[in-house]
Amino acid sequence: MFGQLEHLPADPILGLIEAYKKDTNPNKIDLGVGVYRDAAGHTPIMHAVKEAEALLLTRETTKSYIGSHGDPDYARAILPLVFGAASPLLNSQRISLTQAPGGTGALRLAADFIKRCAPEKTVWISDPTWPNHFSIMQAAGVQYAKYRYVDSQANQLDFAAMLEDLRAIPEGDIVLLHACCHNPTGFDLNAEQWQQIADLLQERQLLPLIDFAYQGFGDGLEEDAFAVRLLAEQLPEVMITASCSKNFGLYRERIGSFIATAPTASAQAALASQLALVARANYSNPPAHGSAIVSTILHSSELSHLWHEEVNAMRLRINGLRQALVEGLAPHGLSERFACIAEQKGMFSYSGLKPEQVAQLQKEFGIYMVSTGRMNIAGYHEHNLPYLCKAIAAVCQ
Ligand code: LMR
Repeated sequence: MFGQLEHLPADPILGLIEAYKKDTNPNKIDLGVGVYRDAAGHTPIMHAVKEAEALLLTRETTKSYIGSHGDPDYARAILPLVFGAASPLLNSQRISLTQAPGGTGALRLAADFIKRCAPEKTVWISDPTWPNHFSIMQAAGVQYAKYRYVDSQANQLDFAAMLEDLRAIPEGDIVLLHACCHNPTGFDLNAEQWQQIADLLQERQLLPLIDFAYQGFGDGLEEDAFAVRLLAEQLPEVMITASCSKNFGLYRERIGSFIATAPTASAQAALASQLALVARANYSNPPAHGSAIVSTILHSSELSHLWHEEVNAMRLRINGLRQALVEGLAPHGLSERFACIAEQKGMFSYSGLKPEQVAQLQKEFGIYMVSTGRMNIAGYHEHNLPYLCKAIAAVCQ
């Protein structure tokens, strides 16, 4: 059987890690996968995480299973972060949280749940999106289709086209939305636009599946939750996939959550029972180390304070790098063309570079980014910025 297998191309994002490692160019820059890097190009372990791990080493008493929904202490810590500490939803018995192996694992739970409980529904996904959204839906056997999101000529959000497409979606279908820091574009909706989306979803009885992977990287931890909180308040049912990969820097620990709000407490109990089965058939119990770290941090006011400061520092550094890139491109006559970089939100920028230009950057300069022109803003630093600007200018000739 193995002799007949088709050799597949590498993943469009993860494949870049390997290609970058093999490159011998001493000036190479990795702007591929979305991981935060500091001024030395290193992805550090956050101080709050290190301190929580030290505490866990002394406190942890067992390595037994934590159950299909995960650690209830973790759920109690995450829900106020997502919905707001004062949200009436927290005491409503309408929320179910299933801990998952990362945001990807949470999305897979969502997809398996949709396939199991509503196989006739289509999931509508922004064009463009994180490419793994498609792979996950496909792997779970869920039907999906696209709605327009950007005007690729002008390289900007096309909200009118988005609304037009969402209005045409059959009632009852599911709409996958990026809560903040849209991946790959960095183009986010403003508060007024989110309100229009909420009204439209309500009117057309569409069910949102909100991918919330970058809380804290846009405008701040509270500010970035605006869309999630608005939709959860206004609609009877929402699904949210949250991740701690980026904002806790726990990429390899695989810690995320599938959260859903149901119209009633009994509907919530039934929903939770379905999710337990989906998780059980998938990986049984989630890994426990990441959730223990997150819960230790968020249940301690001291560690929580430290963590807030660290997340804010990452966000401010990324915003500074955005500004610095636009300024660095100015002497090359490119500041207007790339002005959008300073306005986009989160870790990524849809640069507007064409696949041929991306390929040239890789081949001639050892600069790696996703072929769609998505660059990880946290991937360069103050020292290699001039080289990056020169290289971009060279491929834009
Ligand atoms: C990314 O988009 O680079 C990250 O979300 C990492 C991944 O899994 O693709």
